[in-house]
Amino acid sequence: MKNSELSTQFALPRTGIGIDADFGDSAVEASAARMRAVEESAVVQSIGETPLVRLRRLEAHWRLPDSIELYLKLEWVNPGGSIKDRTALSIIRAGITDGSLTPGRTLIDATSGNTGIAYAMLGAALGIPVTLVVPESASDERKRTLTAYGAEVIFSDPYEGSDGAIRLVREIAAAGTDRFFYADQYNNPANILAHTRTTGPEIWRQTEGKLTHFVAALGTTGTLMGAGSFLKTRGHVTLVGVQPAEAFHGIEGLKHLPTAIVPGIFNPALPDRIVGIDTENAFAAARALARVEGFFAGSSTGANLAAAAGLVVELARQGEPARIVMIGCDAGSRYLTTGLWDAN
Ligand SMILES: Cc1ncc(COP(=O)(O)O)c(C=O)c1O
Repeated sequence: MKNSELSTQFALPRTGIGIDADFGDSAVEASAARMRAVEESAVVQSIGETPLVRLRRLEAHWRLPDSIELYLKLEWVNPGGSIKDRTALSIIRAGITDGSLTPGRTLIDATSGNTGIAYAMLGAALGIPVTLVVPESASDERKRTLTAYGAEVIFSDPYEGSDGAIRLVREIAAAGTDRFFYADQYNNPANILAHTRTTGPEIWRQTEGKLTHFVAALGTTGTLMGAGSFLKTRGHVTLVGVQPAEAFHGIEGLKHLPTAIVPGIFNPALPDRIVGIDTENAFAAARALARVEGFFAGSSTGANLAAAAGLVVELARQGEPARIVMIGCDAGSRYLTTGLWDAN
């Protein structure tokens, strides 16, 4: 390329400059070449292998016996800021491999925010157009992040929450089957695979297989289903799912399973228990994490922490040693305009 052909201006690119390129003749060759382009992406290479940290200050704050240890997996370290980067990447990889995400198709899905941010980020990095159906009630930070990456956003009824977004995206996807790749995170087995292949093995390695409990909040349930099933095949790990205690709640990203559309990927036989946490407790735990440990996490991480708090009371009473791993789903900065940080 001659210097005169270089283009270093900050004009916004159109999507379709990455894996949409012409990659060869046969469908198999083209899909293999597209997968190579995915693996070479700097954003893709930055997803996963997140730190697992011990919360020693919180253990001391809660006056836990030495035999009980708490660990948090810092998923906000992912480039899109949440655990859902893993999910979105796994769904895109599966779509390219099975031929359903072909060049020119727009990835569409319903998302309360984090998966949408991950799709939008990967769409920008890989040249895939992205349309997202988001409840109008999602936090402003999330909605503005989606448009920053160049995704198209369609709002669903704020009073119908994530279920309203699911119903609307199904209608839109059904009306344009050849235009859209419907990622369908609630029913897509690639969501589970993301965690069977990455989150679960990372936790196993980082704890040297010595964890006793795994605590994960339930949205699509992919984290618990995937990482949980992996951990169960490796050892005696108690799986704790965390859901909001009530149907109307303020813990973004989570589902109250008794009243919500139950995700198709959810296997009720897998968790050893499911704990209900109310919004105030989740918020209080997130605030405690910020003040005591200096980790600024969102409300679903707070819900995981609140569930672990209940668990350690039981374990301490029984004199049981434990090494509890919790998911730190996303960062507190995503909730600055919500009520999460209002209390002093
Ligand atoms: C903030 C947050 N926490 C937790 C979850 C739950 O993760 P999963 O969908 O794997 O159940 C989500 C899902 O969207 C989320 O956005």
